[in-house]
Amino acid sequence: MNVNMLQEGLRTKQFGKRIVFLHEVGSTNDCAKELAGYDAEEGTVVIAETQTAGRGRLGREWISPKGGLYFSVILRPKISASEAVKLVFVAGLAVAKVLNEVYELKVETKWPNDVLIKGKKICGILAETNTISEKVNYAIIGVGVNANFNVEKALLKELVKTATSLEDELGKKIRVEELFKTLMEKLETLYFLLLKEGSAPILSEWKKHADFLGKRVEVTIGDKKFSGMAVDVGVDGSLILKQENGSVKLVSGDLVLI
Ligand code: BTN
Repeated sequence: MNVNMLQEGLRTKQFGKRIVFLHEVGSTNDCAKELAGYDAEEGTVVIAETQTAGRGRLGREWISPKGGLYFSVILRPKISASEAVKLVFVAGLAVAKVLNEVYELKVETKWPNDVLIKGKKICGILAETNTISEKVNYAIIGVGVNANFNVEKALLKELVKTATSLEDELGKKIRVEELFKTLMEKLETLYFLLLKEGSAPILSEWKKHADFLGKRVEVTIGDKKFSGMAVDVGVDGSLILKQENGSVKLVSGDLVLI
């Protein structure tokens, strides 16, 4: 990765104006949290070529070989903690739009925070907030994009069925610095939109990519499983699932099509 290229021509107001670049780090989210604790300003980014302890949702590991894009943005939104939950949709929509507009890929969003191509995961998002009751002190949005590597070689053989990469989809490598800059611009635009107009416009755009809506799904939350028709994603970001015995609202979980 060419660190000078990460900011050259970057058209943002705040996002990526301060970048902490690391060849290797445990987790960019952890590093960003530490910086946020030292008053790092909104829009500060931590980016690494590889992570040795990349984290996913629900305590999972995020394998981070070289060639991928791994970064975390520090945010200080003046919104309530329950509104800040919608930041995952801002990030998911930003990635979906960029992959679609720049690489002409048909991209799907999966509740709550995955981006897929033909049902296979290409990007994961880990949003973490530090709150004092309903007030958000800071939020970290961590984004991992499988970019310049072959999933079978660089990840695990068993992930070929469930994960993909830009290299696998496009048959060539991309300029990861360009992807980063375009993502920064889109993320900032959509984040400002969330602050100005609330989450409704973001959610309605996000839902246009949500292939799972209207389909039968199973959602696992801890040791509980819920299955039914994925009817909608509510204004609060929860999944509305129509089961045989009525509807339930789920606030988190792991969704698969059945
Ligand atoms: C998931 O799909 O479970 C979320 C994966 C999020 C991975 C990104 S990579 C950059 C940032 N740093 C981390 O440790 N995790 C996120």
